[in-house]
Amino acid sequence: MRIGVPKEIKPQEYRVALTPAGARELAQRGHEVLVEAAAGAGSAFSDEAYERAGASIVSVDDVWARSELLLKVKEPIGPEYARLREGLALFTYLHIAADEPLTRALVDSGITAIAYETVETDRGALPLLAPMSEIAGRLAPQAGADHLEKPKGGRGILLGGVAGVAPARVLVIGGGMVGYNAAVIALGMGAQVTILERSVERMRYLEQILSGRVQLLMSSTLQIEESIKDAELVIGAVLIPGALAPKLITREMLGTMKESSVLVDVAIDQGGCAETSRPTTHDEPVYTVDGVIHYCVANMPGAVPITSTRALTNVTLPYVEELADHGVLRAIQLDPELARGVNVIGGRITYEAVAEAHGLDYTPLDDALAAGVL
Ligand SMILES: NC(=O)c1ccc[n+]([C@@H]2O[C@H](COP(=O)([O-])OP(=O)(O)OC[C@H]3O[C@@H](n4cnc5c(N)ncnc54)[C@H](O)[C@@H]3O)[C@@H](O)[C@H]2O)c1
Repeated sequence: MRIGVPKEIKPQEYRVALTPAGARELAQRGHEVLVEAAAGAGSAFSDEAYERAGASIVSVDDVWARSELLLKVKEPIGPEYARLREGLALFTYLHIAADEPLTRALVDSGITAIAYETVETDRGALPLLAPMSEIAGRLAPQAGADHLEKPKGGRGILLGGVAGVAPARVLVIGGGMVGYNAAVIALGMGAQVTILERSVERMRYLEQILSGRVQLLMSSTLQIEESIKDAELVIGAVLIPGALAPKLITREMLGTMKESSVLVDVAIDQGGCAETSRPTTHDEPVYTVDGVIHYCVANMPGAVPITSTRALTNVTLPYVEELADHGVLRAIQLDPELARGVNVIGGRITYEAVAEAHGLDYTPLDDALAAGVL
């Protein structure tokens, strides 16, 4: 199969969808890999490294026009819409339930669009989202520590304290993938860490692996009100799958927090878990409400592309190999995890939540395939 890797053009996006190591694996299996010139530059991969791995370096027009399977990181944006076409399969993060213009562009083009974020195992795990949660979780205490420094406008406290001086208190709300990773790094930095969770089962698991090094408490409005007063750094890490994040931190609660404390709301990509959260960018990551510094960057992993690119491609490559080895149609027939990733095919929306979000028609994937869309 001819597999293409364009350069990401979304502002502040430095990741790339395939590493030279991945290109080598695909070339070895007899596939042709086309990489747009400088596509890997933001992640410190040179064109020569891809060429040594057996890929060809091509122009942006060639990579879109000649590929059968196109690997990206972010959803296509305006200037790329005209390049979508029938006969092409796109494998990338799409998040189209929140993007009607792109949904319509995908439907109108006849392209096959497989979304990383909806590839799902039989047990309901989302294997292509997990590494980004690990990274965002590990970045959260780092970002929080930075903004707690006085010259940055913060309270002026060192997370780890020193001998004879108490460490800072970090409150993590939500103990899933983001929350666990945030807690591990905050502990490593020497902070005193509390995790509020709603699932007893998850708390038992965290208790086992963190073995008494954090305080684990049942999450409730009362508990949040009490814990938030003491914390210098609050990390929002809750998720209710398929729904907006619950607004657990009210405007009123902010008033009870310490002056110049920091809230890192990682859940901002689902709307954020504080009433006062709104998305920010790496260019201007923070703003202050009622004396509390809000860090609400919606694409935190974008700050560390060398790590993020490798973590992403580690998990996408096995699926890319399936798509390439079997062909797109056969691969989605063989693997239900990949089939759940198909959002749009042959002009039909095959992911129910997407169709619902835009009031458009939904066609189950099997029906679409039976109708011979591909
Ligand atoms: N900003 C970014 O760059 C970025 C990157 C990756 C992930 N995220 C977001 O971070 C959030 C967390 O992702 P995750 O992978 O850790 O999800 P997850 O499903 O692994 O964990 C979420 C946890 O929140 C818990 N929870 C739900 N309601 C709660 C409540 N009221 N109080 C306490 N805990 C509660 C759940 O029990 C679960 O353990 C998501 O919104 C995700 O989209 C953001």
